Amino acid sequence: MKSPWKVLMVAPVLLLFSHSLASAVDQDQPGASSFNSHGCLGCVLVVSVIEQLAQVHNSTVQASMERLCSYLPEKLFLKTTCHFLVQIFGSDIIKLLDVHMNADVVCHALEFCKQDAGQSQCHLYPLPQEAWKFMLEKARKIIKKSPTMKYHRSGSSICSLPFLVKICQKIELSIKNAVPFKDVDSDKYSVFPTLRGYHWRGRDCNDSDKTAYPGRRPDNWDVHRDSNCNGIWGIDPKDGIPYEKKFCEGSQPRGIILLGDSAGAHFHIPPEWLTASQMSLNSFFNLPTALTDELNWPQLSGVTGFLESTSGVEETSIYHRLRKRNHCNHRDYQSISRNGASSQNLENFIGSLSRNQVLDHPAIVIYAMIGNDVCNGRADPVPEMTTPEQMYSKVMQTLKHLNSHLPNGSHVILYGLPDGTFLWDNLHNRYHPLGQLNKDVTYAQLFSFLSCLKISPCSGWMSSNKTLRTLTSERAEQLSKTLKKIATSKIFTNFKLFYMDFAYHEIIEEWQRRGGQPWQLIEPVDGFHPNEVASLLLADLFWKKIQFQWPQVLGKENPFNSQIEQVFGDQGGH
Ligand SMILES: *[C@@H]1O[C@H](CO)[C@@H](O)[C@H](O)[C@H]1NC(C)=O
Ligand SMILES: *[C@@H]1O[C@H](CO)[C@@H](O)[C@H](O)[C@H]1NC(C)=O
Ligand SMILES: *[C@@H]1O[C@H](CO)[C@@H](O)[C@H](O)[C@H]1NC(C)=O
Ligand SMILES: *[C@@H]1O[C@H](CO)[C@@H](O)[C@H](O)[C@H]1NC(C)=O
Repeated sequence: MKSPWKVLMVAPVLLLFSHSLASAVDQDQPGASSFNSHGCLGCVLVVSVIEQLAQVHNSTVQASMERLCSYLPEKLFLKTTCHFLVQIFGSDIIKLLDVHMNADVVCHALEFCKQDAGQSQCHLYPLPQEAWKFMLEKARKIIKKSPTMKYHRSGSSICSLPFLVKICQKIELSIKNAVPFKDVDSDKYSVFPTLRGYHWRGRDCNDSDKTAYPGRRPDNWDVHRDSNCNGIWGIDPKDGIPYEKKFCEGSQPRGIILLGDSAGAHFHIPPEWLTASQMSLNSFFNLPTALTDELNWPQLSGVTGFLESTSGVEETSIYHRLRKRNHCNHRDYQSISRNGASSQNLENFIGSLSRNQVLDHPAIVIYAMIGNDVCNGRADPVPEMTTPEQMYSKVMQTLKHLNSHLPNGSHVILYGLPDGTFLWDNLHNRYHPLGQLNKDVTYAQLFSFLSCLKISPCSGWMSSNKTLRTLTSERAEQLSKTLKKIATSKIFTNFKLFYMDFAYHEIIEEWQRRGGQPWQLIEPVDGFHPNEVASLLLADLFWKKIQFQWPQVLGKENPFNSQIEQVFGDQGGH
């Protein structure tokens, strides 16, 4: 017997995956309809992979589904869930794929995808209108007597299966709150990597002591304990001077804090998850970690990343550089970023920023809401875009909050918005990872599928409509100007304020100088986010500009760095 809990874990696989893919940017979609849309997207992705696995291995659809399940890890019930999904929908999918229906037709026949009255059907693969009608009718006949469909037909998604309703609601709620599976105290430093743990802010060094955490000024020079978790503590036996005093006093330590969106948190779906030709037992090993980090990889991001990048570029994150500059900064990073974050909703989670004005070191805060103020999934995105007036008022509110929470001597840098027209320009006629095997899915098709489902991360820029793309860029530029105006005219007592352009064209030029192509800087699966290489190049550009224009932001180079290494090694790692 399968326990109900395991049964109910069906939803996370389909939902977390597809939901996060599309809602990385806009989480404020109306509940029910976006829920259905994500079911449709999830279905089309999964059925496409099943179909392509069968093609690559010249196997039956049954064998291909089993293969896919066998690749999934046991963790989070992923494998169990997969087998269960096969039990529910497998026989229908086999019947349909065996007569060469494509994933769009299969998912419409299974009623994961629905056509709203008066709307065109949403499809990923090209198919002439007449052929479409004929295929869909044929498909419906084939699975007419399917027992699953009897349940399924009564509602509109997998979640209308009676035994799934409740858990679906729970899961949707937890996705909305962006903390799947478990409630976590977001103010707390953690010894656990995911679920907003040390992938997001410096690892705690004593879980049972609330007064010890990264970024605080040392307590009694950390004679007896490492109160700021930077790995430096105790007394030098040679002269009786506390190490923290000897190595860090006057070194101007500071932390790095990002107020960001999915780009800052490094939203990333590995293309291996969708590429049938390269899929193996290793492809999904990182899926549980990614799901419990909301499909973000802050540990590899350009601002707060602390792991070595495997992307092949030698640039490192801003945190890395601050730590290299002054080892006393070890572990002092916070990524306060959310999928879907914008100037307008930052107030909902800025409270999780942790800095004590009296006890802690100053911080460098990077404000980088780079897309969601102009990006949304609406058919006509323009009325939903943030206006310069709305921007002004919310950013001032944010800065007031920061002024009352940051220690004196901090710095705040406002990032402008990029011009996203390079997305369409560089991607529209290229093949998406799902389309590479049969040369049948371009980014233009993916973008129009997502827009049709009303779950595009950015229907303004990910659009074939040039007028709309230009309008989106114009608004982005107005909003950047608003930020710049604030930075050049407002003064705050506890921090200095700067503005920096989000100069995507500069990193594209740099990448081209190295022989690269612009499309190689964009996340391949979502066709929207800057990828790891782009984030690191941006970090490099940021660092160089700051060093050149405002070097005081970065603090001094610590002359004791090598001595710290001698005594404390890697300072306890990350
Ligand atoms: C695929 O499998 C079928 C049936 O097992 C076989 O007849 C066919 O030759 C195979 N094709 C390739 C290209 O291996
Ligand atoms: C952690 O903090 C507790 C409470 O202050 C203390 O008793 C314990 O010794 C500390 N552990 C370490 C490893 O410092
Ligand atoms: C903040 O620090 C500056 C020097 O960095 C000092 O001039 C100013 O008085 C301080 N402000 C407060 C409120 O302590
Ligand atoms: C393109 O977008 C503009 C601005 O939203 C809109 O007015 C126009 O109707 C769109 N054109 C087409 C062909 O959809």
